[in-house]
Amino acid sequence: MAKISGNFAMACIHAAILFVYVINVANAARVMMPLHPYMREQEKPISNIFDTSKYGILQLGNGLAKTPQMGWNSWNFFGCNINEKVIKETADALISTGLAKLGYNYVNIDDCWSEPSRDSEGQLIPDPKTFPSGIKALADYVHSEGLKLGIYSDAGAFTCQKRPGSLQHEYDDAVLFASWVCSFFFFYGSLFSLHLCWNCFPLFLYDFLGGIEGLVHILILFFVIQGVDYLKYDNCFNLGIDPEERYPPMRDAINATGRTIFYSLCEWGVNDPALWAGKIGNSWRTTNDINDSWASMTEIVDINDKWAAYAGPGGWNDPDMLEVGNGGMTYQEYRAHFSIWALMKSPLLIGCDVRNMSAETFEILSNEEVIAVNQDHLGVQGRKIFAYGPDGCYQIWAGPLSGQRLVVALWNRCSKTATITAKWPSLGLESSISVSVRDLWKHEFVSQNSKSSFSARVDAHACEMYIFTPTMETHSAT
Ligand code: GAL
Repeated sequence: MAKISGNFAMACIHAAILFVYVINVANAARVMMPLHPYMREQEKPISNIFDTSKYGILQLGNGLAKTPQMGWNSWNFFGCNINEKVIKETADALISTGLAKLGYNYVNIDDCWSEPSRDSEGQLIPDPKTFPSGIKALADYVHSEGLKLGIYSDAGAFTCQKRPGSLQHEYDDAVLFASWVCSFFFFYGSLFSLHLCWNCFPLFLYDFLGGIEGLVHILILFFVIQGVDYLKYDNCFNLGIDPEERYPPMRDAINATGRTIFYSLCEWGVNDPALWAGKIGNSWRTTNDINDSWASMTEIVDINDKWAAYAGPGGWNDPDMLEVGNGGMTYQEYRAHFSIWALMKSPLLIGCDVRNMSAETFEILSNEEVIAVNQDHLGVQGRKIFAYGPDGCYQIWAGPLSGQRLVVALWNRCSKTATITAKWPSLGLESSISVSVRDLWKHEFVSQNSKSSFSARVDAHACEMYIFTPTMETHSAT
């Protein structure tokens, strides 16, 4: 009997070992990526540019951010040295330079706009020394130019510069932001107009005349509100409370105002916001603050790249604002910075003094072909797909665009000029496919029928950027 039960125990142990082995083998087989028939080992891409597995699954759905936001933000150049004159002149410069027409529409005031403490009723107050006319007047000014105004607050007790934060004041503050309004109701064709602000007087007059002309009192109600259009919501002095608890109340408060406000989460990537922020905001910072250096810019790019599969229309990864034009990088480095931001579908928020831009800075920021990559309606974040050479510093970044096209960047992160080659398998293209290649910085076609690979000489730290359009067949969607 003892022998039988001993044998039975041994059989059970063997069965258990066999079971664990089979499960392991099955799991290993499951996660192994099938090798593309054309791929030799060294051509295996780092990541599949057609991976959109998480794309759009977490949408806030407030109708905004169909493409990444574009505009300007005060922080990178001005820090706390802001005032209403700077903001107005910046809005003017966005118009006069033509940048606004290219899509740079948000004029975003960052930290330091408010008094160090709330008023006796607990409301935030604009600093009377720097913003004596108040934020509402500024909103009216910016709106009168056809632009949008952004404001800043913090999901903590204080902002990073120790102004009052909005934690536990979400509803009051959201109402305040939305109520910096020039608003009116009017009934077209009627004589009745209710105006809530003097700045609407020209509109009132127009409406009134329209009313006299209209014989029938057809009632159409228009509710026009012009408050703040964008909120950047920072992460300082957060009392150790989980961001997933601190960020939703402001979303709910904004929604409750009835005003559509772009909600930009600035959580610095601490709790991997790509995994959860899509339901809460229109963009989420994935990294710590950028600074105006090659080292910072490249470090941030690599961090942001990790989260590519999560970006999509409605919600974008945010690797921080642009430093182009602030003086800490070379022309080629700034061009690379701008190219890769555009390819990664990152917000294009200018961070320099647009009132005094150099011609080179303007040339970079106004490259319409690069902007079009960023604003492409397919909305798939491009990524690093291949790296080789010393420390992997010859890099190929790519992503799909609408119309079966691809954006491809050859980026030389080494300190010497080099020839960089993109081979079709790493781009997910069949070798037989022929593509036309348009150079987005030269603004010309550099090839009409490239097959199997494409190479270019790339200066140290430079990034050449192209659109590949298949001229035969289409690329494989694997
Ligand atoms: C940081 C934020 C910066 C800027 C700054 C203002 O936390 O990441 O972009 O807003 O605060 O104090």
